[in-house]
Amino acid sequence: MPDPVNRVADLVAKIDERRAKVVVVGQGYVGLPVALRATEVGFPVVGYDVDPARVDALAAGRSYVEDVPEARLAAAKAAGYLPTHDPNDLREFDVAVITVQTPLRENIPDLSFIESAAGVLAAWLRPGALVVLESTTYPGTTDELLRPILEAGGLRAAAGDFFLGYSPERIDPGNAEWTFVNTAKVVSGYDAHSREVVEAFYGALVDKIVPVGSTGEAELVKLLENTFRHVNIALVNELAMFARDLGVDIWSAIDAAATKPYGYMRFTPGPGVGGHCLPVDPAYLAWRVERRIGQRFRFVELANDVNRGMPEYVVARIAAMLNEERRSVNGSRILLLGLAYKAGTSDWRGAPSMIIAERLRELGAEVRAHDPLVPADAPLGPPVTRVPCSEEELAAADLVVLCVDHAELPYDDIVDHARLVLDTRGRLRGMGFRGETL
Ligand SMILES: NC(=O)c1ccc[n+]([C@@H]2O[C@H](COP(=O)([O-])OP(=O)(O)OC[C@H]3O[C@@H](n4cnc5c(N)ncnc54)[C@H](O)[C@@H]3O)[C@@H](O)[C@H]2O)c1
Repeated sequence: MPDPVNRVADLVAKIDERRAKVVVVGQGYVGLPVALRATEVGFPVVGYDVDPARVDALAAGRSYVEDVPEARLAAAKAAGYLPTHDPNDLREFDVAVITVQTPLRENIPDLSFIESAAGVLAAWLRPGALVVLESTTYPGTTDELLRPILEAGGLRAAAGDFFLGYSPERIDPGNAEWTFVNTAKVVSGYDAHSREVVEAFYGALVDKIVPVGSTGEAELVKLLENTFRHVNIALVNELAMFARDLGVDIWSAIDAAATKPYGYMRFTPGPGVGGHCLPVDPAYLAWRVERRIGQRFRFVELANDVNRGMPEYVVARIAAMLNEERRSVNGSRILLLGLAYKAGTSDWRGAPSMIIAERLRELGAEVRAHDPLVPADAPLGPPVTRVPCSEEELAAADLVVLCVDHAELPYDDIVDHARLVLDTRGRLRGMGFRGETL
């Protein structure tokens, strides 16, 4: 029987020589870039997903992740990347990376996707293989939830039969400067043996790895990062509302504060947070804290409260601006610009503009919307009429709301043709537009 030390050496050699078969479970916004990068550095890679539509798209060379150009997908496929929904393709894996979604169900972490991914991997787990979880989750998941499922067949992580790790994903959709490769990657292992193979694997994929002491620490890193962001956005959002009532320009104050070279980090107000990270991840941490130690995570609760109230605040501001014009929301034509949850992405999941659109419709507005990145057939939820951002549409709207400051929007046209604008991102400041910032 080879001991763990030999198993480590074997797997590290397979990784170094690019003989290790890598499987990535979940080919979404996180999993697809991981699978392609692993292919590009020379591993044989299987991208496994239970969604046949996604697998068919990848097999046909169509990318649904904007940071993954189709030419890159084509090159990866030519190099052997195999998208599949057949679990048999996972056989004899050496390294498995789990990148499935971790949503909330009625405000409670839903780890069923990790459970089912682990179940499929357990069926193929061999001595000496490595499983790494990348999905965002609360501290303790890798050890308490994932490990027992993988051990059901009799192999033991503690005995060094197989290796286990956690490495949070830091991908920032739409960010061309900080990519999967040049963003330092936090890595961890169940024990020292596991950490060694995890380090070898990610060391092959990214420029810099940051090893931490335990999987729980690595799990906390991700939640700390996103809770920090969530809380700071809530801070400037609340301050934006107060500053307006105080008659002070919050945007100028933020610009000036951001000139301090230490101890300050720039966050800007907006119509609320969306996507799959900020509205979800802090809740994972708060849930765990409450469950384990019976305490409420008050910062998270307060940040949720402020950020969730922002779409309603935007609607109130719209109503007030129309009122100034002797108009009501009821019967007004309102053009929303930007339906994604943030600039540079086509991802509309949980975007505040959806809530704003729905509320405006309930109040009787005629809501039209434009987004240069969100696909025209995206199942957005509230039925909004998608229109081009043309001079005619801009001029015909009683009010234009800039919800997302995509670089692709025609800002000069907005300034020239919109009759009244609510700029929730501060993008039009200094451009002489008719309207208000948030
Ligand atoms: N998208 C981001 O910007 C981002 C950034 C950092 C971390 N994360 C985290 O990474 C994880 C994945 O996020 P995402 O945005 O890629 O999600 P996603 O929904 O785009 O992708 C998840 C994929 O996993 C597939 N899947 C679900 N169960 C499966 C199973 N049992 N076997 C195989 N495939 C399965 C789904 O069909 C889907 O295609 C989440 O925990 C998320 O919080 C996301």
